[in-house]
Amino acid sequence: MARTLALTLLIACSPVTVDVGGARDADPPDVGSSDGADDSDDSDGADGSDGSDATDGSDGGDGSQTGDPGDTAEDGPVVTADPSTILGHAQECAVALGRIPGFSCQTDAIEVPITVDGVVPGDDEYSTRMDCDRPAMLTGECLPWSKVGHKQGQRWNGDPDPDVDWVFTCRRDRISPGREGGIFNDVAMIGHRKSTGETCFFQSFPYTTVERAPSPMEDPLDTPPGSPTPREFWDPPGDTAAINCANRCHDNDPWVHSPYIDQVMRPDAPTQTLVPAYTGLDRPYTVVGTAFEGWDLPFDQLKPTGNNCTSCHRIGTGGSCSTFADYATGVPGGYPVTDSMQTYPNSHWMPPGNSGTAAEWESQWRDDVEQLIRCCYDSDRSECNKQAIPMTPTR
Ligand code: HEC
Repeated sequence: MARTLALTLLIACSPVTVDVGGARDADPPDVGSSDGADDSDDSDGADGSDGSDATDGSDGGDGSQTGDPGDTAEDGPVVTADPSTILGHAQECAVALGRIPGFSCQTDAIEVPITVDGVVPGDDEYSTRMDCDRPAMLTGECLPWSKVGHKQGQRWNGDPDPDVDWVFTCRRDRISPGREGGIFNDVAMIGHRKSTGETCFFQSFPYTTVERAPSPMEDPLDTPPGSPTPREFWDPPGDTAAINCANRCHDNDPWVHSPYIDQVMRPDAPTQTLVPAYTGLDRPYTVVGTAFEGWDLPFDQLKPTGNNCTSCHRIGTGGSCSTFADYATGVPGGYPVTDSMQTYPNSHWMPPGNSGTAAEWESQWRDDVEQLIRCCYDSDRSECNKQAIPMTPTR
């Protein structure tokens, strides 16, 4: 029973494993994502395996900090490939978000700690059945050594774009074969433009050490030998859309926050969580990509009049109102949380930094939380004041 909830979430947010084949067994060269793409001007040199004549848009190198802004800067990316292929989807995203980064799970991502009563267990002390202080919300488990990373956006001409954030996760679903050289089973990346709300989702189930996740728009000719090409590494966008990431979990905005993920701060801005935290109830949020047209847009938010839980941020009608709101207010459900973290005030991570007694919390917040939970299961009740999340800029 204890695991029922977590299992539900797991099913909701994660599809069955997909075998991407390709170069997984090869020994990838030690190529980081900031190695400076050796962009060639041979922009239609895609291997043709996408069935498309890849031109400008595919020649983004690894889309990371360097690259060659010269070849396509004036025109920007153009959608030339079939949008049901990873290249076509990447081109659609590049039009909205600029250069799409590649990354290395080994060198660009930061480990998310798993602790028990504040202590990091020894590498051989983890077990798949243990409780921990801050389990991962997606898997509902305390598996160690998953990682998360952030890259600032980059305009097509190579300039930094502070309006765009990219966050990628490198998740592990097993303890074996240990911390070093372990394999990542679930690698995903979200890009988001704050001003317009445009958001792109990418997914891979690599089961490799992911020395090099290519930019989804990398020209396969630029992929180093032994490393997976974008089509080998990233799932086709239709498979990613089928996971329903936004409708289920990323429902109120692209970024999901939890005690687990918010342990990691930005190395370049140590007071900020690595996963961006935005305020503003009317910020736009929408999804880019032909393959994602089946998603239920616009997303909805709950705005009950006078409910203070929705005074700082939105609560959506998916994971953020059900499982996450419960967990945030002392009901961890199936999450394997240690006793110390199930004790007030640790058990109540919303609102942030609440300092009153448990009784004060109850009298101030309990009704608001219960209203949200009611609305989560029947959002058409009039008290819920369900409203569409804006899909275009509101200011
Ligand atoms: C004083 C401001 C404030 C109030 C009031 C507040 N929160 Fe939050 N909440 C935050 C911040 C900051 C975050 C992390 C960043 C974010 O999600 O915007 C957050 C995150 C969350 C999340 C994670 C959701 C996600 O998708 O990332 C949930 C769930 C949540 N809050 C529920 C609640 C509930 C339930 C209440 C009422 C008891 C509440 N919050 C009241 C500031 C607040």
